[in-house]
Amino acid sequence: MKNNLKGNRMNFELSEEHKMIRDAARDFAETELLPGVIERDENQTFPHEQIKKMGDLGFLGMMVSPEYGGGGMDTLSYIIAMEELSKVDASASVVMSVNNSLVCWGIEKYGTEIQKQKYLPKLSCGEIIGAFCLSEPEAGSDATSQKTTAIDKGDHYLLNGTKNWITNGSTASVYLVIAQTDIDKGHRGINALIIEKEMDGFVIGAKENKMGIRGSDTHSLMFTDVKVPKENRIGSDGFGFKFAMQTLAGGRIGIAAQALGVASGALELALQYAKERKSFGKAICEHQAIAFKLADMATEIEAARLLCFRAAWQKDQGLDYTESGAMAKLFCAEKAMRITTEAVQIHGGYGFVKEYHVERLMRDAKITQIYEGTSEIQKIVISRSILK
Ligand code: CAA
Repeated sequence: MKNNLKGNRMNFELSEEHKMIRDAARDFAETELLPGVIERDENQTFPHEQIKKMGDLGFLGMMVSPEYGGGGMDTLSYIIAMEELSKVDASASVVMSVNNSLVCWGIEKYGTEIQKQKYLPKLSCGEIIGAFCLSEPEAGSDATSQKTTAIDKGDHYLLNGTKNWITNGSTASVYLVIAQTDIDKGHRGINALIIEKEMDGFVIGAKENKMGIRGSDTHSLMFTDVKVPKENRIGSDGFGFKFAMQTLAGGRIGIAAQALGVASGALELALQYAKERKSFGKAICEHQAIAFKLADMATEIEAARLLCFRAAWQKDQGLDYTESGAMAKLFCAEKAMRITTEAVQIHGGYGFVKEYHVERLMRDAKITQIYEGTSEIQKIVISRSILK
């Protein structure tokens, strides 16, 4: 049977532009993020200088339209950069991820023209960074159970409540806060509001002392009678929950890429170590016990990357990416945990100490199974999608 599909086949090759982005991100990670990454993790130091440079290079607003000061790039470009930076420093890449896919994307997609002009140029170049505030002490996975209230007072909302686990908690200047306006309406009574750091009644709580991504700053936030002008609402009244879900659906592709990067960073270190380290008279990679582990790790990373790229491609094509994004996040995060654990095992005792980097990658991998929806939440999203 003859077909006329020549030249129209599926293409697994990256474009020249995508390769350039990959190389630039890899170069930045090795020259700017690698030095000091162990110390920043140890001391919980936010990478201020590195984030400033990432802003100058355009990593913080990659998908934002050029008219609002962004790079105007596709999701695939962003995913490729996320993978490369996450191989070295997942603390810096989570700042980039929240800024790009939750804050900038959320404002550009659903914000008013005034909101876009006011915030996007500064967010894109890193003059300011943003935070996304959904989780609460009693509303993590069960995101409709918001206790933070935004009571309608005519020309403004009165915001009261507490948010937990907020990435960029103290370093952000702009916070997208999800809050309940009308409890009787359930998820249709929830709003998304833009809060600025200087607003009266807004207090930043203590910094969390975390297992991983220790260079990023995670805080609780307290709001007491914060007067939020109506023009700071994103979308129509009651759209806040759908705004959060839709924004997180894209955010999950970014975290999938972060997990992919953590896993591939661990594989690169394990490959290098296994070629150099000798035991029983030969390099340990020549023992099948190690070679088979490396083969499994490499295969799983390729599969994870394909899922990740497919979700990004679907988003760029304007297709529904909720299911594919959740699949990518689930698979990449689970593999990141497994592969980093294997990388530590291949390193033996050296893997258990900080100088060899793999123990940090293993700790960083864990959060990818938890934030922007746990692995169990991704399974809820996927199963609902395939069963509907
Ligand atoms: N896009 C648009 N709308 C969506 C949607 C999506 N992806 N997902 C759900 N909705 C809509 C539904 O259609 C429904 O609307 P209708 O009633 O009009 O049909 C509404 O939202 C409610 O949906 P559900 O009934 O499915 O809601 P649910 O209560 O069963 O919860 C859930 C669904 C998937 C479990 C959701 O609560 C969830 O995703 N929870 C996890 C939250 C999360 O990821 N938290 C992470 C915090 S952010 C973070 O980590 C950032 C950081 O700092 C790094």
